[in-house]
Amino acid sequence: TQSKLLTGQHWLITAGPTREAIDPVRYISNHSSGKMGYAIAQAAVNAGATVTLVSGPVTLSTPSGVNRINVSSAENMHQQVMTQVENTDVFIACAAVADYKIAEVSAQKIKKSAETMQINLVKNPDIVADVAALANKPFTVGFAAETQDIEHYAKDKLKRKNLDLIAANDVAKNGQGFNSDNNALTVFSYNKKFELPLASKSDVAQQLVALIAQQRDEKQ
Ligand code: C5P
Repeated sequence: TQSKLLTGQHWLITAGPTREAIDPVRYISNHSSGKMGYAIAQAAVNAGATVTLVSGPVTLSTPSGVNRINVSSAENMHQQVMTQVENTDVFIACAAVADYKIAEVSAQKIKKSAETMQINLVKNPDIVADVAALANKPFTVGFAAETQDIEHYAKDKLKRKNLDLIAANDVAKNGQGFNSDNNALTVFSYNKKFELPLASKSDVAQQLVALIAQQRDEKQ
């Protein structure tokens, strides 16, 4: 068997949205399709890595050769990632994790009564920040979906969450990002900037995987 670029490496990737339960029949979520994370998982497997994909609810099929773990809430995702992260060489946080969860999930379906109602929310754990805070942290890559001041917000996240790289996409632009089959990314390290121009998510994923491998080598 031929040795590939990522042979012997373990990559852990999160993808898709999370669902935060309100009661047994309702939840809060977002429009993430999971396409970018799945494309990265496929590209990493093709490059020879052992890939674990911790996935929120999506309608995509599992890329061949990828070990997929299904989760629903941000808390589930956090728990699975912290369990799987040992011996991981590269962690990529591609999931659109809900920032908040419902403070008190109702055990019964909430009945309709008053004209208005309130739901209290509390902050979810920050998965990528918790991984990057580990003593033997993997090479850690985050995503930043922004609509303005992309470079400023992306670099702020890179530093605040102690990441090695951050991939920023402009979700205000048509035909890329959320749900689209195409994407364009600007990737920041502490002192460098890399442009991955608009292409299919599969092409962008291949370029991103190569860039991560190269930046990880440079760091070691
Ligand atoms: O702070 P913000 O949610 O914009 O950061 C986005 C990055 O952080 C993404 O890589 C996302 O997967 C990750 N994230 C996470 N856990 C959270 C929130 C975001 O891993 N609770």
